[in-house]
Amino acid sequence: MQRPRVLSGVQPTGALHLGNWLGAIRNWVDLQSDHDTFFCVVDLHAITVPHNPARLAEDTRTTAALYLACGIDPERSTVFVQSHVPAHSELGWILNCVTPLNWLERMIQFKEKAIKQGDNVSVGLLDYPVLMAADILLYDADLVPVGEDQKQHLELARDIAQQRINSRFGSEEAPLLKVPKPLILSEGARVMSLTDGRSKMSKSDPNEGSRITLLDPPELITKKVKRAKTDPVIGLEFGNPERPEADNLLGLYALLSGKGREAAREECAAMGWGAFKPLLAETLVEALRPVQERYRALRSDDGQIDAVLRQGRERAADVAATTLRRVRDGLGFLPAR
Ligand code: TYM
Repeated sequence: MQRPRVLSGVQPTGALHLGNWLGAIRNWVDLQSDHDTFFCVVDLHAITVPHNPARLAEDTRTTAALYLACGIDPERSTVFVQSHVPAHSELGWILNCVTPLNWLERMIQFKEKAIKQGDNVSVGLLDYPVLMAADILLYDADLVPVGEDQKQHLELARDIAQQRINSRFGSEEAPLLKVPKPLILSEGARVMSLTDGRSKMSKSDPNEGSRITLLDPPELITKKVKRAKTDPVIGLEFGNPERPEADNLLGLYALLSGKGREAAREECAAMGWGAFKPLLAETLVEALRPVQERYRALRSDDGQIDAVLRQGRERAADVAATTLRRVRDGLGFLPAR
């Protein structure tokens, strides 16, 4: 029996943060034991907003190394770089030609990012969810583990596969594309900013103090936690809509201490912010320590990371080529002879 297939990815735009880890990568690690897992560094997505060419290659390696440092095992998972497998761009183009423009115009993330870009919005930014659909559909993925913010993009990928490809070009017995399902964890799927508990932690927030990255040194973590937004109420609690910061930080503590929500809630119910913040900072530092140690060891030999990416590219390209051939045939292209 073939194990269910999993595909996911993170953009290489600066160091990954707690949201990427807790919302996505942590889940990937657990899936490796009983799924056929593919994890890519989605560099073609990173150029949908203005990017720095002097940093792209380095950020791509950093992201791949962080996957491994977080526990992705290249013996069990296929780890690769999106742009190393040209089939992503090719299927992306084919899907572009069948996706209605208004499906893209209503994407929440596009609207949010477009506002930030002002007059400089690229076609790529609008088109980004179609490329993401290609990433997923190329691998016949059953499951896509992501944070809450990607749910709408996953629904789009399902609609493209089902309504725009399978029902038009395939048959019920032989669908051209597998229709994937999102896999969103109940905890950690929406980690919020440290400076505003109502907006999500994000790589693009200009305020570095709003996020903790996986590579922040202990002193910086402590400083960011110390400056994190609080409120005048004593005692941490979950679920009070007036206190999004308390909910977010207590959630981080529950998850990263390994104590779980009930024990964390009891422990901190009467605790003031002055006692809670050092406890949270210490918990974060300890949770990230092993990741940072593994990361440093991996970066002492970039040849090893490049070898993992080379092997990943070979495996990924094989699977992608099979799907692409099926789609090309289904759409009636003349095969190259
Ligand atoms: P990206 O790079 O913005 O984020 C990578 C993953 O981290 C999750 N995430 C969060 N989870 C919880 N709280 C947060 N504050 C938070 N911020 C980010 C995201 O949901 C995501 O799972 N379009 C994708 C990348 C992508 C992709 C794919 C993902 C491209 N192709 C194919 C899955 C499958 C993105 O920009 O993620």
